[in-house]
Amino acid sequence: MAFTQDELKQQVAKAATQYVKSGIIGVGTGSTANYFIDELAKVKHKIDGAVASSEASADRLRKHGIEVFDLNSVNSMDIYVDGADEITEHMHMLKGGGGALTREKIVAAVAKTFVCICDETKYVPVLGKFPLPVEVLPMAKSYVARELTKLGGQPQLRNFTTDNGNVILDVHGLAITDPVAMEAMINQIVGVVTNGLFAARPANILLLATNDSVKTITK
Ligand code: A5P
Repeated sequence: MAFTQDELKQQVAKAATQYVKSGIIGVGTGSTANYFIDELAKVKHKIDGAVASSEASADRLRKHGIEVFDLNSVNSMDIYVDGADEITEHMHMLKGGGGALTREKIVAAVAKTFVCICDETKYVPVLGKFPLPVEVLPMAKSYVARELTKLGGQPQLRNFTTDNGNVILDVHGLAITDPVAMEAMINQIVGVVTNGLFAARPANILLLATNDSVKTITK
């Protein structure tokens, strides 16, 4: 019997709770992260609370009675748990389908271990089939779009405002063979807040739900 994608997301979210030990947990955004929040609620007695990477995740955590901390009041976190739109064997990720990429990158930066939770459809040889989200200050959107076109991409403005009050350009058609270099290059464009490549700080542990089992991949 084949599991649905939602069932795989649920299984991998449950598997991630083995890394929940104590203290404050960094929590991502998206449908897989939502399943993780629901699983976290079952072990909430172990932790002091969580830092959320979006208003949506913060609301869901609070509904489960999990205290949400401001990142500035937290000096360190053992783990950050989040999904991805794409991930490679090198643990480089493409994220931001839900538009929360900037806060995700900031919360992840504070955590010692990034636990990425994905179903197997997200595991890819090369990043970029999924359009790359770039968060941009509204006044810079046209300039940044022109610069992204020079890099070979086709940017499209998403009908969306981020939690930070900015806009997202989804860049289609990029061949991302060197994600570390591409992440740095796009972040150098004036007006870009950040882009959805998580390569400079890759995942440390990938839990990948396949139809047979949840596999643990580390690098
Ligand atoms: C949110 O901004 C994203 O980075 C998500 O982590 C990513 O889009 C994965 O989302 P799903 O778990 O819904 O596929």
